[in-house]
Amino acid sequence: MATRTQGRTSNRSSSGRSSSSTRGSSERSSSENRSKSSSSGNSSGRSAFSWGDGAGPIIAAALGGAAIGFAANYGRKFLLQGMEAAAGDWDEILMAEHEMALAIFDKMLATDKTQSFKRKMLLMKLTHALDKHAHQEEMVVYPALREANETTDADTLEGEHGYIKTYIYELNEMGPESPNWLETVREFRALVSRHAHMEEEEVFPRFKQSLSEEQNARVTSLVNRDGFWMA
Ligand SMILES: [Fe+2]
Ligand SMILES: [Fe+2]
Repeated sequence: MATRTQGRTSNRSSSGRSSSSTRGSSERSSSENRSKSSSSGNSSGRSAFSWGDGAGPIIAAALGGAAIGFAANYGRKFLLQGMEAAAGDWDEILMAEHEMALAIFDKMLATDKTQSFKRKMLLMKLTHALDKHAHQEEMVVYPALREANETTDADTLEGEHGYIKTYIYELNEMGPESPNWLETVREFRALVSRHAHMEEEEVFPRFKQSLSEEQNARVTSLVNRDGFWMA
C-alpha cells in the first residue's frame, strides 16, 4: 500500500521534473497559462493535485502528532517495563505478572451479567497481559529451558499456553452476557493458577539454580527486552 502511494508520488514528481526540463520555454508558458485558466482563482498556477502552500503546516502538524504519539508510546513502554524490571530477576518479573493476571481474573469474577462493558474491558486487559507474558516465556525462557535439557517441562508449559488462548477464544465467542461466562472464567483462572504454580514452584527454581550468575542476568535482560516490545 505504502509502496504504491510512494510510487504514485514519485511518478508524479518525476514527470513534473521532465516536463519542465525537456519542453521549450514557449511550451512551458502555454502550459502555465492552461494551468492558470483551468484552476480558477489559483494565482500560483499550481495544479489541483500539487501540494498547496497551506499544506506545509498541516504536514508539519501531522508529523509532529506522529512524533508525539511515537514518544508517548515509548514513554509508556519504558514506564511499564521499567516497573517490571524493578521486580528483579526474570523469574520474579514473571511471578509479578502471574499475580497481575490473577488479580484481573478476580475482578472478572466479581462482575455480574449486567456489567457486559466491564467484562469486555477486563477480558481485553487480561488478553494483553497474558499475551505479553506468554511471549516472554515462549521466546526466551522455554527455549532456554530446552537448551538446558528441560524439554519435557518446556513443551508441557507451552502446550498449556495453547489452552489459555483457547479460553480467550471461547470467552470472546460466547460474549459477556452468556450464562456460562462466569463458570468459564472460573475454569480459566484455575488453569492459569495451576500453570503459574508449576512454573513458580517447580520449573523456574530448578532452572535458576542451574544458571551461572552471568546466564541468569542474560535471561533477565532478554525477558526485559521482549517485554518492552510487547508492552
Ligand atoms: Fe507460562
Ligand atoms: Fe508464566
